Amino acid sequence: MSELSVNHLLGIKYLNEEDIELIFKTADHFKEVINRPIKKVPSLRDITIANLFFENSTRTRLSFELAEKRLSADVVNFSAASSSVKKGETLIDTVNNILSMKVDMVVMRHPNPGAGIFLSRHVKASIINAGDGAHEHPTQALLDSYSIRERLGGVAGKKVVIVGDILHSRVALSNIFALKLQGAEVKVCGPKTLLPKHIESLGVSVETNLKKALEWCDVANMLRVQNERMDISYFPSTREYSQQFQLNKKLLESLNKEIVVMHPGPINRGVEITSDVADAENAIILDQVQNGVAVRMAVIYLLASKINR
Ligand code: CP
Repeated sequence: MSELSVNHLLGIKYLNEEDIELIFKTADHFKEVINRPIKKVPSLRDITIANLFFENSTRTRLSFELAEKRLSADVVNFSAASSSVKKGETLIDTVNNILSMKVDMVVMRHPNPGAGIFLSRHVKASIINAGDGAHEHPTQALLDSYSIRERLGGVAGKKVVIVGDILHSRVALSNIFALKLQGAEVKVCGPKTLLPKHIESLGVSVETNLKKALEWCDVANMLRVQNERMDISYFPSTREYSQQFQLNKKLLESLNKEIVVMHPGPINRGVEITSDVADAENAIILDQVQNGVAVRMAVIYLLASKINR
């Protein structure tokens, strides 16, 4: 297969296994490119991309911008906080105004689930979802699987536990879809209050004891508690949460085996993970960030090849 089955990247649930394989093969090529002295290719010189961020971001925003520039695309950046959205302009009006300046592709992070899907139905541009509320964060899941593949030689058959605030996490949902599609076994672990009802229907198992989950897994993906999405308390205190769900050196050493430690960032050091674990050799947190550029270059390149221009 030489092209994606989709015209937008709205979520992993719209991709198939061949799409993911194609993205990874293309990312392998771009990873080699960004390790050259001249880290740039002229592939997208005729493409203009708008990065629309209606929510805060460090990794995703910088990584998309770098990926676009490494492909020689023209790039415009938009931040809701300093825009006319603050004067009441709607999402559609905002995007249509940007598109009238001849933009071909939109990368959007938005607090509302489904914002990217909505946009794809109303504007003529290729849309990449850079995180929509608690719904999906597809490029994060792709770079996570790519990093597992790089470290362990593949994803199929690997046991991956996703730990923490599953209820409010777009990273968890996209990872579940991506890992299952590639044949991994997936478990979720966290306080009962932060595990969605019926999560097993997605083909994952549930564990509320972190030590047991870690004894089972090859890879632990530690998630941040998403306080910004909580309107009530889901656990008594941060201290109690950490006592039960923090990955620390003592717990890791008690396993008598090595596991790969992942975190999508931003890390709350000392809450879900201790610094000694986050900075250890078997933690691939910065590899994930580095791979994010190559994976996003692949996604942008493959979607751009489907634009009529
Ligand atoms: N992982 C991630 O999405 O980080 P940012 O919120 O900093 O983009």
